[in-house]
Amino acid sequence: MNKLTQSLVLLALLAGTATAQVPDKFTNLKVLPQDIGKRELMGVMQSFTMGLGARCSDCHEMKVPGDFSSFDWASDKRPNKDVARGMMQMVQEINSNLLPAATKEHDFQVRCVTCHRGLHNPRTLDNVLLKVVAKDGAPAGEDRYRELRKTYYGAGAYDFRPSTLATVAETLAQEKGDLAGGRRMVLLNLEMNPDHVNSYLMLAQMDLAAGDKAAARTSIDKALALDPDSRHAKRLLKQLDE
Ligand code: HEC
Ligand code: HEC
Repeated sequence: MNKLTQSLVLLALLAGTATAQVPDKFTNLKVLPQDIGKRELMGVMQSFTMGLGARCSDCHEMKVPGDFSSFDWASDKRPNKDVARGMMQMVQEINSNLLPAATKEHDFQVRCVTCHRGLHNPRTLDNVLLKVVAKDGAPAGEDRYRELRKTYYGAGAYDFRPSTLATVAETLAQEKGDLAGGRRMVLLNLEMNPDHVNSYLMLAQMDLAAGDKAAARTSIDKALALDPDSRHAKRLLKQLDE
């Protein structure tokens, strides 16, 4: 059995367990239609778990951890469940009113996955990193980047293109006055994307600001080796020689 088949079978098994443990009548629906069938409800719930990379227990109370038969599906004890209700209403409003009003040819329905991309919390990578740096410092931000990249690279959940770390570095260095943090993010960016011309130029600017002309020249040379026509690099070189 290859990996994909394996995971499909596993999914089917999980879905089977879930369906078997779920009652046929529902007692606490506030957004979904009261007369929704079990198959349809399970389809909705599965779109939640897939869209958010979540488990049933993230939104539903499991009285005995790990024991599937101890779920109290109707309970509203877990805060995520009410958040999810708000999200369902938001999605409904977008699809029935806002989207048709905003676009001429409306042939696309927004779903949970449209924003969530398989994540509990759909924030963008730069936002996630800046929040970690603000709370726990740039080394923690670097650790988080490596962790997320390992888990999500290629999943489309986060944008790992070099411009994201460049934005984080720039925000740290310019808006937050955190030069060391900014430099750390530039170096991380170059480790991940050794051909990123702009990162060498950012490094050169940081070196210039710190008065280290030799280091600045090395960085500019690297940028010019990658992009001999870079006007930005030539401008910095001129600045250096003055
Ligand atoms: C992201 C949160 C979320 C996840 C994950 C989730 N659910 Fe739900 N579920 C809800 C919400 C919200 C409702 C209530 C909808 C409403 O009020 O109309 C609900 C309702 C239900 C109900 C009806 C309960 C009742 O009697 O009123 C069942 C059964 C259920 N979910 C099963 C599941 C199963 C099984 C899974 C995992 C495969 C799952 N859910 C995953 C949010 C979630
Ligand atoms: C238009 C974009 C968008 C759509 C569509 C969307 N969400 Fe969200 N959702 C968000 C944002 C943004 C947040 C995080 C808000 C924050 O952290 O301040 C969020 C947060 C959540 C959270 C809380 C997660 C946490 O870590 O705190 C849950 C649960 C959730 N959404 C469920 C859903 C479900 C279920 C659907 C589909 C019915 C859905 N969302 C559709 C944008 C969206």
